[in-house]
Amino acid sequence: MMTRAPLSAIVLISGRGSNLQAIIDAKAQNRLTMNLTAVISNKPDAKGLERAHKAGLPTYVCSSQGKTSAVYNTELLQLIESLTPDLIILAGYMKIIPSELIAKFRGRIINIHPSLLPSFPGLHAHEQALAKGVKITGCTVHFVDEGCDTGPIILQKSLAIPENCTADKLSDLLLPLEHEAYVEALSLYENQGLDIIDNRVSIKPK
Ligand code: GRF
Repeated sequence: MMTRAPLSAIVLISGRGSNLQAIIDAKAQNRLTMNLTAVISNKPDAKGLERAHKAGLPTYVCSSQGKTSAVYNTELLQLIESLTPDLIILAGYMKIIPSELIAKFRGRIINIHPSLLPSFPGLHAHEQALAKGVKITGCTVHFVDEGCDTGPIILQKSLAIPENCTADKLSDLLLPLEHEAYVEALSLYENQGLDIIDNRVSIKPK
């Protein structure tokens, strides 16, 4: 039987890095086989960088501070190309992904968003959901395209919003679901492969 080499994946973060941690833990538990070859942050003080160090992962800071977006985008693209990843995982990365990067890695950039897309894209998804009074929300793992949280959906998980919920509480409730969803989606990606047809994702039969 042919065995494929594990994928090489890099993770982009801007902050806390709890999704990164879930991926690191899943890898340690052999729930994922992909090699995490680098963690890149646009913020030098991102807590996720400590998590990466602790796990022995190479880290890079590509700071956007004081740079035009053209300069920042070029630096980011050069760094990513030098790392030759198979897959780019966005885990709380708060910058717009340059279209050149999307074009070069189409179908190979994955993001997680804390709502049931296409509802509540962009910033403050929890607040948006509460403001609309929806009773059910969730999280979405999706491929990244040129739009804001518009790419093909890989997997979603939902939960009922309790009475008198706040944005912080909702975020706390959603986070464990996000961690589960991200690991599941990455496992599908590496084990089965995912086809994107007409903006819809289907799981390739084994
Ligand atoms: C998560 O809620 C994720 O859905 C959103 O940003 C947050 C990142 O959290 N894109 P963390 O840094 O992974 O803890």
